[in-house]
Amino acid sequence: MPHRSPSVKALGFFYSLDFPKLISFQKTICIIARLYEGKIFGGKGMKSAIITGASRGIGKAVAYCLASMGYRVALVAKNEALLKQVAADLKEKHPSSDPIPCAVDVTSEESISSLFSKILDELQQIDILVNAAGILIPKTGSITNKELRSMVETNLYGSIYSIQAVLPKMKAQKSGYIFNVASRAGKTGISSLGGYCASKFGMVGYSESLALELAEFGIKVTSLCPGWVDTDMAKQNTSTPSEEMISPSDITKTIQFLLGLSHNCLIKEVVIDCRRTLIAAGKSSVKKT
Ligand SMILES: NC(=O)c1ccc[n+]([C@@H]2O[C@H](COP(=O)([O-])OP(=O)(O)OC[C@H]3O[C@@H](n4cnc5c(N)ncnc54)[C@H](OP(=O)(O)O)[C@@H]3O)[C@@H](O)[C@H]2O)c1
Repeated sequence: MPHRSPSVKALGFFYSLDFPKLISFQKTICIIARLYEGKIFGGKGMKSAIITGASRGIGKAVAYCLASMGYRVALVAKNEALLKQVAADLKEKHPSSDPIPCAVDVTSEESISSLFSKILDELQQIDILVNAAGILIPKTGSITNKELRSMVETNLYGSIYSIQAVLPKMKAQKSGYIFNVASRAGKTGISSLGGYCASKFGMVGYSESLALELAEFGIKVTSLCPGWVDTDMAKQNTSTPSEEMISPSDITKTIQFLLGLSHNCLIKEVVIDCRRTLIAAGKSSVKKT
């Protein structure tokens, strides 16, 4: 056997390689790596959502829903310990959601603005904002200025601050979806919920105006107006039994439905009644014939 130098051996090996096969193998590896980057390591270019009020109730249910749909999620609420619990559980159940817990009070414009800019740097893109942070103080005529202000600042201003913090990015992307969790109390007056109604009517009005303004940017805005939903808030404020309330999963299914609609279809608001409330309202004083 003739002696060959190492460089001649290397040249021989080089010529023996099947390049077309190698290149297609390399391409396949690249595609798999990119898919894994998005799905498993929460990589850049992944769909992402910010959810306020994500530590409990409706916001928490929405966070689980979006995480299960493959979104990376940023979770906003005041209670840091609770947020971290939710984030840890989400990470275990849906690793690709790579949750970012963000403890902040939505009534602070400066905090929201600086927090959201950090979140947006981290997420790179923002597909969905869900405004679900909210409070309810059940008073109308006897409401104090302080109580009214705290409801309006949380439910209305808090949502608007959050919207304003994501808008420049969504406009630049020419895409995005903003869900405002308003209430049935944003559509009709309710005795003893006057202050809450004021904050929610404001939210519905702002939301509809925003839907009109942002349509040309490819950004959708929908306000969700449910009756009693089975959460801490409802348990503290109604005698309606849990099993007769709307379920948080009804809200997440509504959001999933809305997300599935085409680019050209926009639903500005969805009113979701609690069956028990409708039965009561249907008992009118008109004599049945
Ligand atoms: N449950 C219902 O029957 C019902 C019906 C219609 C509409 N809604 C609306 O749906 C939204 C969610 O309500 P829910 O029933 O899920 O209430 P919930 O169980 O009481 O949860 C409220 C969420 O909002 C957060 N939050 C409250 N104030 C905040 C603030 N200043 N800054 C940041 N986060 C704040 C809370 O977190 P922290 O406690 O950590 O702050 C919590 O995560 C509210 O806007 C509510 O008005 C509820």
